[in-house]
Amino acid sequence: HPHHPTIPHPPPAPAPPPKPSESFYFTTPIYYGKDTPDLGHVYTTTVADVLARYHRLKGDDTFFLTGVDEHAAKVSDKAAEHGLTPQQWADQNAAAFRETFDKLDLQYDDFVRTSSDHHKTKVTQYVTALLASGDVYPGEYEGWYDAGQEEYIPENKAKANDYKSEVNGKPLVKKAEKNYFFKLSAYRDQLLAHYDAHYDFVQPDARRNEIVNRIKEANDVPISRTGSGGWGIPVPGDEEQTIYVWIDALFNYLTYVDTDDRRHYWQSGATHLIAKDILWFHAGIWPAILLALQKCEGYGWVNLPKQVYAHSYWVSESGEKMSKSLGNFLDPAAIDNYVEEFGLDALRYFLATRGPLSTTDSTFSPDLFIEVYNSDLANTFGNSASRVSNMIGKYFDGLAGKTPDSSRPQRLPEMVSEFAKIVSRQNLPHVALESISRAALQVVQSVDGYIEETAPFKLAKNPEKLDEVAGILTVSQEALRIASVLLWPFIPHKVEHFWRRIGCGHYAEQLADRGRGKLGKWVEWGQLEPGTPIEKGDPLFPRYQVPKK
Ligand code: MSP
Repeated sequence: HPHHPTIPHPPPAPAPPPKPSESFYFTTPIYYGKDTPDLGHVYTTTVADVLARYHRLKGDDTFFLTGVDEHAAKVSDKAAEHGLTPQQWADQNAAAFRETFDKLDLQYDDFVRTSSDHHKTKVTQYVTALLASGDVYPGEYEGWYDAGQEEYIPENKAKANDYKSEVNGKPLVKKAEKNYFFKLSAYRDQLLAHYDAHYDFVQPDARRNEIVNRIKEANDVPISRTGSGGWGIPVPGDEEQTIYVWIDALFNYLTYVDTDDRRHYWQSGATHLIAKDILWFHAGIWPAILLALQKCEGYGWVNLPKQVYAHSYWVSESGEKMSKSLGNFLDPAAIDNYVEEFGLDALRYFLATRGPLSTTDSTFSPDLFIEVYNSDLANTFGNSASRVSNMIGKYFDGLAGKTPDSSRPQRLPEMVSEFAKIVSRQNLPHVALESISRAALQVVQSVDGYIEETAPFKLAKNPEKLDEVAGILTVSQEALRIASVLLWPFIPHKVEHFWRRIGCGHYAEQLADRGRGKLGKWVEWGQLEPGTPIEKGDPLFPRYQVPKK
């Protein structure tokens, strides 16, 4: 239809409006503090940040937690290599993680350190309660032990190597050791019933199936170890044993909100964002521990999380999982380079919209990054914003006009309102990030289509048509304002800049310092005041020219 702007179909049936006072609690894994962060860590924390910002924008009471996991043997080993105490090494890396996250303006509400006193005290209390209830009990662990590596080797691996060490070839020894166990087997049925009753508890679906199958076979699991050299949390009443680092780490989600002013976040149901590598701990062991704790005196308030969402991996162009140990991932310096070249928001946008949220891995390639930057940011939002403000500048001295009267029906406003309503109402606590950014871009694209169709730059040559031109530009400006609100969680800094240019600086003020916004109101059509000065300015996202080789 050459005479109609391209109007995308709005997404299907709107969800019911959310309950007014719901709280949201987003967590990321706490990353091993054995080294500086890499882009994999930044990824999950960025996804959580976009979700947290989206909920703050909606006005929801939101808590977002990230941090580091410090009591790992990898931390104390690395510390020894560097001639430092584990605590010194952990301090250094915790600071590096915070620095990277802060530079990227990831607005977490607290930063976990498992070596903190609060965390250690709470974990000790939980384990004391579990010992008293009998869900944690002393037992013996028996297995094939590689003495040189100080490590137990699982039966199948031991057998495959003829019961010899893979490292030094010496025979493995059968070793038995005192250990504390958690009675996971006692919770199999309750967990299966929970997965059944709460279909979304583990997502995506493929991950859900994985867990259901594994829990059916689950045995009790050891939750302590010896020989940690004092690095870790002692088992209450048995100083020789240290709480296994995974159990210590999982508890972070609870310890950091186990205070009077934060407990309601736990009760509203946590959303745990993780990658698929650590699904078993989060969707199998962790909820079972919570069920066990819930039965203990004083812990009746401990409910299960709302969801465990396990995304996939960023992989390199050759298809390997990206990680620091494989030497193929972006370290803090490489992250800085991207930010310097393209800006913070471009990196956020790329990670959030092209990342491995589903069950498919995503390739991180510089070429794709540039393509997305140019197509979604420079040529779409950035370009429309300049185009409209330039015309308002040129024809109307930079003053926004009056929204045209409704006697001439306009499809653009109708479509935009419909989109905006859906996005602002839909309860998207989880991972519908792509649908939000796509809705916003579609709004921008329809503005472009609308301008092409109506050609205000041609009409403006005829003084009698200036009213019409004013109408077209106001409608366009208004649609862009609404798109920008939807884009804020992804590209907050550029959007705030844009808001200041169009007389909406107060939105940003309201959202500063984790303030709560008014998404529902801000996406209502017709809020641009006539006569508002619309500033022109540098392009929000200058087009990136690939340097010639
Ligand atoms: N310390 C544990 C987690 C304890 S949570 C109670 C741990 N740490 S980790 O440093 O290995 O971080 C793993 C997490 O980092 C993944 O679950 C994922 O969130 C993120 N990622 C690390 N590499 C990644 C990719 N290549 N791609 C996607 N996510 C990445 O496990």
